[in-house]
Amino acid sequence: MMPSNSDDIFDGESFTSLLGTETIGRGDRLVVLRETDSTNEEAKRRAASGAEDGLLVFAEMQTKGKGRKGRSWTSPPGCNLAFSILLRPDIDPDDASMITIIAALSCVIAIRRISGEDALIKWPNDIVLNGRKLVGILTEMVPEKDRTGFVVVGMGINVNTPSFPSELKDIATSLLLESGQACSRTALAAECVNGFERLYREFLLEKSLAFTKQEYESLCVNLGKEVRVIDPKGSFNGTALEINDRGSLIVKRADGTETEVYAGEVSVRGMYGYI
Ligand code: BTN
Repeated sequence: MMPSNSDDIFDGESFTSLLGTETIGRGDRLVVLRETDSTNEEAKRRAASGAEDGLLVFAEMQTKGKGRKGRSWTSPPGCNLAFSILLRPDIDPDDASMITIIAALSCVIAIRRISGEDALIKWPNDIVLNGRKLVGILTEMVPEKDRTGFVVVGMGINVNTPSFPSELKDIATSLLLESGQACSRTALAAECVNGFERLYREFLLEKSLAFTKQEYESLCVNLGKEVRVIDPKGSFNGTALEINDRGSLIVKRADGTETEVYAGEVSVRGMYGYI
C-alpha cells in the first residue's frame, strides 16, 4: 500500500520492473499514453495495423471511455487505471466470453492481494466492494477477413478516485474511498496483468474454465442469491446456483427449471438493488 499523500504517477518503467509476463506488455507491446479516446479503440486501431498478440495499452486519460451496452466510462485523469490488452487467440468466437471471466478473476485477485480489501465479482465481470462497483471490464471480439480475428479486453479500475458525482456515489466506489489509503496503480496493474496472463495461458490449453471454476465461485457475490436476469430476449427472476465450465451462470427459476445464462450482453441484478 502507498501512503495516502504519495505522488503515484503511473510510469511504464516501474510497471515493467514488476511485470512477470512472457508476452503481454513485453518490449514494444507496452504503450503508455497520456490521453486517448478509449484504450479499447486504441488497441483495435493498432490491431488493425498489425499489432501483435499481447499489446497492452494504458492511458492516463480517456476522452471517450466505453462501457458495456453502449454506455460511457468516465474517470478523472491521474488517479485510476484504464488499460486494454490485445489478444489473438485461436479460439471459437463463442468462447471469447470466457476471456472476460478470466479478466474479472485476475483483477479481483490482484485487488485483494495489493489492497487487502475484500472485493468480489458480480457475475460476469464487474468487481464490487462493499456493495458498490469498483471495476468495469469491456471485452470486444473483432472478426477479421481471412483470420480468426482478435479480442480486446479493457479494464477500468477505480483506484484513487477521491469522490464521485452525486448520481454515481451510491453505485460506484474506489479503493481509496473504501480503505482510506491510496493504492499503487503500478503494483496493482502489474499484479492484474501477471495474473491474467497465467490464467489466460491455462485457458488456451484447456478451452474451458473448469480449472478455475472453484476459485471464481468462491469470489462471486451472486451465488445463492435471488437475481433478476436482464436479457433483451426476455428478463426473468431466479436463484443463482453456480457457474459452469464455460463461465455461464446457472439460474434456477421458481418452477424449478435451470437456465444457463451466457456471459454476453446479459446483466444480472440483485432483486433489491445492484447486487
Ligand atoms: C462497464 O462496466 O460498463 C465496462 C467499463 C470498461 C471500462 C474500461 S476503461 C479501459 C477500457 N477502455 C474503454 O474505453 N473501456 C474499458
